[in-house]
Amino acid sequence: MNLTWVNVKAFIPRLPLSPVSDRYTFGMPVNTSPPITQSVIPITDLRRGDGLPIPKMRETSGGTSVQDQRGRQLRDLRISVTDRCNFRCTYCMPKEVFDNNYRYLPHSEVLSFEEITRVARIAVTQGVTKIRLTGGEPLMRRGIEDLVAMLAAIPGIDLTLTTNGSALKAKAGALKAAGLNRLTVSLDSLDDKVFRAMNDVDFPVAKVLAAIDAANAAGFEQIKINMVVKRGVNDHQIIDMAKFFKPAPGTLGNIVRFIEFMDVGSTNGWQMGDVVPSQEVVNRIHAALPCEPANPNHVGEVAKRWKYLDGAGEFGVISSVTAAFCGTCTRARLSTDGFLYTCLFAQHGYDLKSLLRRGEDDTLIAKAIGGIWQARQDNYSEVRTAETARQRKIEMSFIGG
Ligand code: GTP
Ligand code: 5AD
Ligand code: SF4
Ligand code: SF4
Repeated sequence: MNLTWVNVKAFIPRLPLSPVSDRYTFGMPVNTSPPITQSVIPITDLRRGDGLPIPKMRETSGGTSVQDQRGRQLRDLRISVTDRCNFRCTYCMPKEVFDNNYRYLPHSEVLSFEEITRVARIAVTQGVTKIRLTGGEPLMRRGIEDLVAMLAAIPGIDLTLTTNGSALKAKAGALKAAGLNRLTVSLDSLDDKVFRAMNDVDFPVAKVLAAIDAANAAGFEQIKINMVVKRGVNDHQIIDMAKFFKPAPGTLGNIVRFIEFMDVGSTNGWQMGDVVPSQEVVNRIHAALPCEPANPNHVGEVAKRWKYLDGAGEFGVISSVTAAFCGTCTRARLSTDGFLYTCLFAQHGYDLKSLLRRGEDDTLIAKAIGGIWQARQDNYSEVRTAETARQRKIEMSFIGG
């Protein structure tokens, strides 16, 4: 099917809504509609909505940092450096949608390293202390280590990156040398067959494991390993993953985090019945490897930490579906094309790129970021229903994971 942008828009109001619009109950599969198929591609191919008007910033009193409508500070900036990826994870970039006809952003729309660094530097003046590079697959952006070096030169930030690991073996040393502080690697299964099916490009587990080893050897310690858990697809791998990444006594090891499958974007056919609640993940692990809750490393930490009772190692669970963490959400997202989003589930963002490219000064851009944050009310995961899950939202590969 080859539809133009205009007739794509014409389809929007016809989003097929689930007959069930009540809030679902914990653990109950309520969305009985089948996974989204090719017939709705025109709607979901809409990369982003129009830019929202940028709110005017209110003055903050003497040294107070910028806060949103719920008193949440701006702390994290997640930057998507490319909307491309060499994987086609079924829950993120399903092949049926992201096929040869899919139109990625043209080069002219992609923020340059200088533009990204400028936004980051200005965001730091508004409170940002942590920057995460994402994508798509960030290591597919040519010269990514140069961007890392540019961002690492900003004083006082924790700089980290999430990758699928496919190009990490070759890049780990350069990323470390450029000043990257921390690393997260996505890995959904240790079972080669399951992993190849989930990434849908037949990429082998062994190469990702070799990349993790290489990154550890390059000096990245306690790498976070993200596993998105989908019932009936890879949930039988939970214990194997926990055991595999459990470090030997006295060593740090890497930290696996089990993520509830989320309804991000509009193409992954999300259904509540596919979600394995984190409590179930913890129960299953506890039965094999006794564990207890550990204190958060910082307020607003996304993952809930669990440590093993034998004293060696920990794992995390990320429960966006069954235990929303919007109340402490301090994250803004900068898309590949320079829009700022205040929620992972946003339907619209704010066009910062236009401000950058029409030559506005840093003060104005700082006020724009501050004003956008002050107007923020987002709490999508707290109010998710079967109906909101089917709304048209920006794809995760576009907005950043
Ligand atoms: P560090 O604490 O910096 O190590 O990372 P993190 O715990 O924030 O983890 P990371 O940024 O890698 O996020 C892990 C996963 O959690 C992401 O891939 C998403 O699936 C999910 N996630 C992260 N941030 C949000 C968020 O703001 N909202 C929701 N709903 N999910 C999020
Ligand atoms: N639900 C949960 N996590 C997701 N990710 C991508 N799509 C989803 C989804 N639908 C996570 C991947 C990866 C990061 C980039 O985002 O696990 O670690
Ligand atoms: Fe690519 Fe990561 Fe999305 Fe998988 S989850 S398709 S690796 S961006
Ligand atoms: Fe933050 Fe939105 Fe995620 Fe809630 S759903 S934690 S507001 S990004």
